[in-house]
Amino acid sequence: MSIYVLEEQLNEFKIEVINKYRDTKSPLMQILQESQKRYGCVPVEVQEFISKEMNITTAKINGVVSFYSMFSLIPSGRHILGVCTGTACYVKGASRLVERVEALLDTEYGSTTEDGCFTLAHTRCVGDCAQAPVIMVNDEFNGKVTSDDIPKIIARHRGKNCKK
Ligand code: FES
Repeated sequence: MSIYVLEEQLNEFKIEVINKYRDTKSPLMQILQESQKRYGCVPVEVQEFISKEMNITTAKINGVVSFYSMFSLIPSGRHILGVCTGTACYVKGASRLVERVEALLDTEYGSTTEDGCFTLAHTRCVGDCAQAPVIMVNDEFNGKVTSDDIPKIIARHRGKNCKK
């Protein structure tokens, strides 16, 4: 099992996050959001730590982490790339775009590329169906995307904050 958060970071997390939210009404969501923001994920070691500190079962914590798509168990990449799979985009060939993205990045949806550059995230309708099919990279909107546009979109973002 990979360890994403070190023990000293957990102590810091206790002081700065858990103690801050401990006595609030429903602290779990806020604590999990803080983990996601700090570490790009809510890994098992953080879940276990929260469980011990807050006296909440790990089963319950894991249930919340698995239920909400904003949380992930492993760190997210530098860029979050999502092909919209809402109805309009689906009709306009989103599934072919998904296949192309997965092939070019050699990873599957819900995963992060080995170089940590991209996390492929599931994306629902982003509200601009007239531009279908749509690809979002972070908050950048790309409309009427063709399969041939994808290498350019990837290359543009790979140049920003990624090793390669
Ligand atoms: S279905 Fe993709 S933008 Fe609406």
